[in-house]
Amino acid sequence: MTGDTRAFRALVETVGESITARLSDVERRLTELVDARDPRASGPALETLRAGGKRLRPLLVLTCGAIDDADETQQRALISAGAAVELVHMATLVHDDVLDDAALRRGRPTVYAEHGRERAVQTGDMLFAIAFEELAASGDADQVRALSEAASGLATGELLQREDAWNATVTRDRYLLRCSLKTARLFEAAAQLGAHAGGRPELAPTLGAFGAKVGLAFQLADDVLDVVASTEQTGKTRGADLLDGTVNLPLIVATERDASLGDVELRSITTAERAAEICDRIVATGAPDDVLAEARKLIADAKELLDGRVTRTERSVFESIADQAVVRNK
Ligand code: IPE
Ligand code: IPE
Ligand code: MG
Ligand code: MG
Repeated sequence: MTGDTRAFRALVETVGESITARLSDVERRLTELVDARDPRASGPALETLRAGGKRLRPLLVLTCGAIDDADETQQRALISAGAAVELVHMATLVHDDVLDDAALRRGRPTVYAEHGRERAVQTGDMLFAIAFEELAASGDADQVRALSEAASGLATGELLQREDAWNATVTRDRYLLRCSLKTARLFEAAAQLGAHAGGRPELAPTLGAFGAKVGLAFQLADDVLDVVASTEQTGKTRGADLLDGTVNLPLIVATERDASLGDVELRSITTAERAAEICDRIVATGAPDDVLAEARKLIADAKELLDGRVTRTERSVFESIADQAVVRNK
């Protein structure tokens, strides 16, 4: 993680110096793993790695595994699991930018925009491969299965998103299913992997369910940011979802309120200016605030799952991470 991002500073405030130091171990492992590969794919992968990112999923792995209380073997397993989860995440981001025809990621041109489709596909493939190699070396078969199921869920979620592209009548349920698959499942797996690698498998179901709710809230918040936030805040293009035909919850809710939005031909939104104009109309309906309120409700539900399951000190860390998922920057 680059030490100068706002997200990094928020993270230190959220979870304290100790966990942040352990995240540096994950960071070192990530660089080591990627650096050892063919430069044709490792070059763009290293650029993505160095561009920053919040490292929220490895953070979930480490905290769910209580790394500060873990023995040395468990600590190594947690760092590997954290790296594996982030590698799957990065692989899906690199591929997602091909699918979404995206120009910016983490404040930089996407691998797709800078190096082209072929290298982006190969880079993502390589990141997937390294992720599973790392987890196979450090985790047990159940952990490999959990990550693999999350990765296939993610692919299914992306397929649903393409199937529903440009369809202004997509339902809220279908939207939620897509978000559960493409985002919540990986958060769930991160939490489960953490619990297992940290030697507290009895907590895996609770922490997995906590992760899934936080992940869903995270995607809702991301979709709000897509409409309301500047590139400076997110490192991505405002209105990127509109530009690639993705009908997100802010648009669904806004159309319920302002029927004229339903008359907009989504395929005609092809420029950043036009996308920003539609984003302003969505904001004018108040829909983003309501979606954010839904995300916060999910966060409250996630916190409730922890009742009586973890210590008070741990709970406050989990709660801060959950809060961070809906109030965030790049
Ligand atoms: C982006 O995830 C993809 C979504 C699930 C919305 P992040 O917002 O965690 O991306 P980075 O890792 O911080 O760049
Ligand atoms: C999440 O959806 C994509 C993945 C889970 C890979 P988005 O398409 O909204 O993510 P961003 O906005 O590009 O990061
Ligand atoms: Mg995208
Ligand atoms: Mg998005």
